[in-house]
Parts: sequence; C-alpha cells; structure tokens
Amino acid sequence: MPLVDILLHMKAPSVWLVCCFVLMSTLLMSAGHSAVSRVAPDRHDRGESAHRAFDCGDEPVLSETLIRRHSQDERRVEGPCDGVARGARAFFDERLHGLGGNGRSCATCHMATDHFQLSPASAEARFQILQWRRQWNRHADDPLFRPIDADDFRTNGEDATDFSNLRQNGLIRIVFPLPPTMRLIDPATNAPSGETSVDVWRMVPTVNDVALTGADSTNPWARLPNPLGGYQLDGRVATLEEQALGALTNHAQIQGAPPQQLLDDLASFQRVLFTNRRVRALSDAIRAGTTPLPDPDRRLTELEQQGKVVFTRACAQCHGGPAQSNSQAPAVRFHDISSQCPRPVDTVTPPRFAFAACPPRLARNARTYEIKLINGTTARRTSSDPGRALLTGFVGGLPGQDDWNKFDVPGLRGISRTAPYFHNNSAATLEDVVDHYIEFFKRVKVNAPPGLVPPVATTDGVHFDRQPLPEEREALLAYLRKL
Ligand code: HEC
Ligand code: HEC
Repeated sequence: MPLVDILLHMKAPSVWLVCCFVLMSTLLMSAGHSAVSRVAPDRHDRGESAHRAFDCGDEPVLSETLIRRHSQDERRVEGPCDGVARGARAFFDERLHGLGGNGRSCATCHMATDHFQLSPASAEARFQILQWRRQWNRHADDPLFRPIDADDFRTNGEDATDFSNLRQNGLIRIVFPLPPTMRLIDPATNAPSGETSVDVWRMVPTVNDVALTGADSTNPWARLPNPLGGYQLDGRVATLEEQALGALTNHAQIQGAPPQQLLDDLASFQRVLFTNRRVRALSDAIRAGTTPLPDPDRRLTELEQQGKVVFTRACAQCHGGPAQSNSQAPAVRFHDISSQCPRPVDTVTPPRFAFAACPPRLARNARTYEIKLINGTTARRTSSDPGRALLTGFVGGLPGQDDWNKFDVPGLRGISRTAPYFHNNSAATLEDVVDHYIEFFKRVKVNAPPGLVPPVATTDGVHFDRQPLPEEREALLAYLRKL
C-alpha cells in the first residue's frame, strides 16, 4: 500500500508519531548504510530502503473481539499500521497513563539513538547531563536512574544513589528467586545466608530483529522453561507480549495489570524493528514462506568472504539458522561460553588457555553459591550470573546437560554497532570477543573427556577443527563488522 494511503488511514497523532519514527529510523539506517556504502556502493539497495521503512508487514494482529468492538465506533478506523503506531507511542511513553509507573518507558533503556540498546557510555553521559541540569533545577530527572537499579538499593532502598553498575557497565538489576537447590554464601561469614533471591546484573540487549530471534521449532533443550529458546538472555520468556508485561512490571514498576492491547501493540512495534532492510527482507520471506530465503549479508569483499567461511565453521554451530541465533544439532541449544566473571583460570602451568580477566568493576558482581548437585552432593560455585541454572536449579551432570552459566544464543546482525558485548558487557570490542572465543575453544579441548570431541568443537566428530585460527582473526573480524 502506498505511503499516502497509509497516512490517510491514520488519526493525526499516529501520523506524526509514525512520521517521526520513520524519519528517525531512516536517518539511523541511512547513517549506518552510508558508512558502509563507502566500501561497497549498492545503489539498488538504497532505493529500496525508503519504500521498505513504511511497510508494516502483517501488523497489527488484531483479535476478532477487538475488530468487532472497533467497528461499532465510527470514529475509529483501523489502518494497516495502527498497531505499530500505537506500539511506537507506548514504547516511548513515560507516563503510561493510568498504570502508575515510575516514569520509565521502554525507550528509557532501549534507546532509539543507541540502536535500541543501552551502552555504558550513554548511561554515563546521561548521568552527567542530569547532574548538570540539577544545578539549575533540583527536580531535573532521568528515569533511567531509579533506586531499583542502584547498587545500594538493598541497603538504602528508595534513598539509593550509587549507580556504579549502570554508569560503568551499562547493567540493570534482574532479580531471581533462588531455586530450592541453591543458596547464596554470605561473603562476610563464608556460610550460607538466609537470602531467598539473588540480584544479577545484565546488559540491555537491542530489540532490533526480535521478529526473528525468538523460539524456533528445532533442537529442544532437556528442561523447561522454553526448551526451544525464547526472549531474554536466558530465553525464559516465550513471547514479546509476555516480555512487555515483565518489563512494565519490573523495570517501569507499574501498579496494575496493563491492558492486553498495550502488550500486543508493543509487540507489533518491535516486530517491525530491524537492523537493516536486508534483515527485514529475510524476516518477510520467512513469514511469507518464500524459498529460497534471501541472504541478508551485504556485498562482501574477498577478506569478508573468507571471514564468512570461518564464521560458518567456528560460530554457526551455535549462531545458526537464518537469524544466527539458534544452535544446530548435535550442538545443544543453550551454552556456557565462559562470559561470566570471574573467568575460568587453568590450573596447569603454563596455562593451556588464558581468558582476559574481568576488571574489578565487573568481578565484584560475582557471588558464591552452595548448590545441591543432581548426584545429591553439595558443591560451591562462583559466578556473576548462573544463567539458566537460576530458572531450573539443575546443576551438575555432563557439561552438555548442566544449566550452570548457560545462556540463549543471541542474533548477531548489526553487532558492530552494539558494543560492548556479552550478557554483562564484559567484552569491550569485537576483537575482544574473537580473542575470547579463541581461548574458549582451547578450554573446550582441555575439558573434553578422553576420546570424545564435543559437537561445538568438531565438524567431523573426530577432530578439534572448528576453532578460529590466529591467522583467520582479521578475516572473521571483517565479516563480523559487516553483519
Ligand atoms: C530498566 C531498563 C529497561 C526497561 C525500562 C525496559 N527494558 Fe527491555 N530489557 C532490559 C534488560 C536488562 C533486558 C535483558 C534482561 C534479561 O535477559 O534478563 C531486556 C530485554 C528485553 C527484550 C528481550 C530481547 C531479546 O532479544 O531477548 C525485549 C524484547 C525487551 N527488553 C523489550 C522491552 C519493552 C517492550 C519494554 C517496555 C515495556 C522494555 N523492554 C523496558 C532493560 C529494560
Ligand atoms: C558454544 C556455542 C557458541 C559458539 C561456538 C559461539 N557462540 Fe557467540 N554466543 C553464544 C552464547 C550462548 C552467547 C551469549 C553469551 C552472553 O551473552 O554472555 C554468545 C554471544 C556472542 C556475542 C555477543 C552478542 C551481544 O549482543 O553481546 C558475540 C558478538 C558472539 N557471540 C560472536 C561469536 C563468534 C564470532 C563466534 C565464533 C568465533 C561465536 N560467537 C561462537 C554461543 C556461542
């Protein structure tokens, strides 16, 4: 449908909102594109972008009852982009009328100017701007800095003011009830504490490409929740609606139940957010059932093409499928890639693998747990974020089955623009990421039971042949920067 028709179908505020949003995203997209087009001009692609940005796809998905209710209201005409427009408004709405929130919108953390994520640099800049504004206006506010995400919230409650984790690391507090098999160790006494929940600190992932990165239908994990993957870094949430409900409750601290329509609209809006139009075209093709699927890669140089070959061998067993976010069997679905703090250290000298150590600003988020393992014995383990183990309490057994430190595999499209990396923002650059994986594969080899090569490390079931070689580093990086 042409743009004019879409706009005519909308009420005035929606038009403005969508116009602003589209203008903004077109600017962001073309900014990203022009940076690249210096390397590989692609005129055809560019002509397509303006057209695609206005396409609302199959959104909104209105329920039958809603359509009936609306058809009785003559003033209300459902336009093809209405769900998306309402969702866009809600995504940026800090007042959330009638819900009694804390002044936060989704965009407070998923910043539109930060590719819908939050970098530590942006968090720190916003903190500085807030201090500056407070010189003139003591009521000046930025809802990013709410006590629930202050380091000293547990001791100072609503008076908490220490935002070190947000400012230095760009991390948000996520609270989990402790599973019955796990207890926290009190660092002061070195004995199990009476705590019934644990705080972990996680980065704000982008909401670009979420139409693609949810659950898929293959390669189930052995345990609930969501054995086929899902949303959140640990895959604990099945749908975008469920995710929005959780965010409104936990981050925006709303007081009542939000209307289902709000959750649907937020989902509609997020389903049209993409890294670029090629990823959008891929998503459209999947939805339409078109085959073969289009390749979302830009035109690649020879070096980048070599990097893609390395990626396919060394990374795609986990970052597989069209969205690069699903492990391919026999590799299991959820993985521990040693991204927690503290990083594992080899006990042998000289060390057979050596991860870069976590800086103190991140290492201090580690806690020690006393865990009842599945074989009935008790053990202590230390981690800044045990991942899926906090959902299941299932720890021990073969490495492939243990939930300890396991996370869902994220998509990697647009990755060059969303540094730093990993669930705790512990890798500053893509170089750090690749170096981390070079050590990761060495450790897999060290820990493998004799005569057994884990599927993540082998293409033929016999040799350790997946790891990126030092001489392949530059090519792999070139490809990652192009994603
Ligand atoms: C206080 C900051 C904050 C606010 C406000 C916030 N989020 Fe998030 N969001 C996060 C963090 C942190 C995560 C990762 C949490 C985790 O994995 O446990 C996340 C994860 C997500 C994800 C999962 C992405 C993926 O790939 O799995 C989606 C979708 C999302 N948020 C949407 C929303 C929506 C919609 C809203 C508004 C209703 C919202 N967020 C408000 C911080 C925030
Ligand atoms: C064993 C499975 C596995 C392999 C192999 C693997 N990854 Fe990952 N990757 C993951 C998981 C799980 C995460 C999420 C971990 C986290 O957030 O701490 C992740 C996260 C990432 C991230 C961070 C994403 C973000 O938004 O912060 C990047 C970048 C990445 N991987 C790149 C690669 C590259 C490049 C390779 C190949 C050299 C690779 N991965 C190989 C499982 C894997």
